[in-house]
Amino acid sequence: MEEPKIAAKFPKMVTLEPGTYYWCACGRSNNQPFCDGSHQGTGFTPLAFEIEEKKDAWLCQCKRSKNKPFCDGTHKEL
Ligand code: FES
Ligand code: FES
Repeated sequence: MEEPKIAAKFPKMVTLEPGTYYWCACGRSNNQPFCDGSHQGTGFTPLAFEIEEKKDAWLCQCKRSKNKPFCDGTHKEL
C-alpha cells in the first residue's frame, strides 16, 4: 500500500468535545487533522475515534505516528 502523504511535520493541537471524530489517515484532507473525503480512490480510510470527556489533544499530521490519531513524536524523524 502506498505511503500516506505528509500533511505537516508537526502535530495540531485541538480541543475535542465528547463525540466521534474521523482522523485523516491519507494525508490529503484540506481539513487536517480530520478527514474531508479526499481519500476517495487512494485505498486509505479515515480512523474513527471516540472522545469521552472534553480534552485538548495533539493529533498527528505526518500520518506516521505509532499511536494514531495522536502524535508520538515520530514526525521528528522525517
Ligand atoms: Fe484523508 Fe479521508 S481525507 S482519510
Ligand atoms: Fe505525526 Fe507527530 S505529527 S507523529
